[in-house]
Amino acid sequence: MQAERHILITGGAGFIGSHVVRRMVTRYPNYRITNLDKLTYAGNLENLRDIETLPNYQFIRGDIADPVFVMELFRTHRFDGVIHLAAESHVDRSIIAPDDFVYTNIIGTVNLLNAARAFWNKDQGCRFHHISTDEVFGSLGEAGYFTEQTPYDPRSPYAASKASSDFFVRAYGHTYGLPYVLTNCSNNYGPYQFPEKLIPLVINNIRHGRPIPVYAQGQNVRDWLYVEDHAAAIDLVFHRAVNGATYTIGGNNEWRNIDVVRKLCALMDQKLGRRGESAERLITFVADRPGHDYRYAINSSKIRQELGWAPVVDFDEGLRRTVDWYLDHTEWLDHVTSGAYRTYYERMYAGR
Ligand code: NAD
Ligand code: TYD
Repeated sequence: MQAERHILITGGAGFIGSHVVRRMVTRYPNYRITNLDKLTYAGNLENLRDIETLPNYQFIRGDIADPVFVMELFRTHRFDGVIHLAAESHVDRSIIAPDDFVYTNIIGTVNLLNAARAFWNKDQGCRFHHISTDEVFGSLGEAGYFTEQTPYDPRSPYAASKASSDFFVRAYGHTYGLPYVLTNCSNNYGPYQFPEKLIPLVINNIRHGRPIPVYAQGQNVRDWLYVEDHAAAIDLVFHRAVNGATYTIGGNNEWRNIDVVRKLCALMDQKLGRRGESAERLITFVADRPGHDYRYAINSSKIRQELGWAPVVDFDEGLRRTVDWYLDHTEWLDHVTSGAYRTYYERMYAGR
C-alpha cells in the first residue's frame, strides 16, 4: 500500500489529464487526488463520470493563470505532489490566438511553481511533474530522433509557450531547489480526445460524411502513442525518477498523416459496414498549416532502460480501440461538438 499523499492534477478534465486522474484515483486509493481545471472548451467533466464519486477524488474549478487563486488553493490544501497537465494544447488555435497560450501555459505554470515554492519544504518528498511535448524541439528532416539532449527550437506559438514553461520549471529547480521532473511526449491518441485533433476529427467527419481536411499533401510525420501508455509513463516517472530528471516519451511509431487518415478510412468502412464507397472519397487536401513542422520522432531509450517503461498498445490495436470508443460514444462526440457538455458541470458541481 502506498503512503498517503495529496496530489494536485491540473487539466484533469482534458484528454490526457482524464486518463491520468482515472489511473491515479483507481491505482492509489490511499492518495487524495484533486483535479483543478478551468473547464475551457477542452475540459469536459463527462470524461470522468465513471470515477467522480470515488471518495479519494475531488474536482475544483479554477484558473491557473490567476495567481491569488492558485496561492490560496495551495494554502488550503497542502498538496505534496503536482502533476501539471493544464494547458492550451492545439497548434492551430495557437496560430490564430496565441495570447491564451501565454496566459495559461507560461503564466499559469509560473503561478503553480510560485505556490509550490511557497509551501513546499524540500525535505518532505514533494514533487512537481511538468507534462510537456516533443514540439519544443522543433522539426526533424527525414532522419534522426529527439532525445533528452536535443536543443530546444520551438516553432509554433504553442511550442514556444510549452518551451518557455519547461525553462521556468528547470530554472525553479536550479535556482530554488524546487523538486521537479519533466517529460516531453509525442502525439497522443485515444478515447476522450477533443475532435479538433487529427484522429478524432477524421473519425467524426467520416461519421457525418464531411470532408476530411488533410494539410498540404499529408506527407508530415508524427510519432503516435496510445494515451494509456503515456499515463503509465507519467505514473512511473512521477513515482520513480530522480529529482531534476527529464524523459522523452514516444511510441517509436511514425506515420505520414495521409497514411493515418487512410487507415482510419479503412477501419471506419469496416465498422460502419459501408460497402462500395470508401470514406477515402472524403479526403480533401487543403492549404498547409503556417510553419507546419515536418517530422517529429522520439528516441525513448532512457525511460525504457532506466524505468522499464514500454508502450503496450500497438498502432493497429490502438486505432481499433479508439474508433470503437468513438462509435460507442457518439453522444459524447455530439455533446462536445454542440457545446452541450458544458451543462454537465452546472448539474453536477455548481453550488457544491
Ligand atoms: P487538452 O486540451 O485536452 O486539455 C487541457 C485541459 O486543461 C482542459 O481540461 C482545460 O480545461 C484545462 N485548462 C486549460 N487552461 C486552463 C487554465 N488556465 N486553468 C486550469 N485549467 C485549464 O490537452 P491534452 O491533449 O490532454 O494535453 C495535456 C497536456 O499534455 C498539455 O500540457 C499538453 O501540452 C501536453 N501534451 C499533449 C500531447 C498530445 O498529443 N495531446 C502530447 C504531449 C504533451
Ligand atoms: P494535430 O492532431 O493537430 O497535432 P499536432 O499538430 O500537435 O502534431 O495534427 C497532427 C498532424 O495532422 C499535423 O501534422 C497536422 C495534421 N492535420 C491535418 O492534416 N488536418 C487537420 O485537420 C488537423 C487537425 C491536423
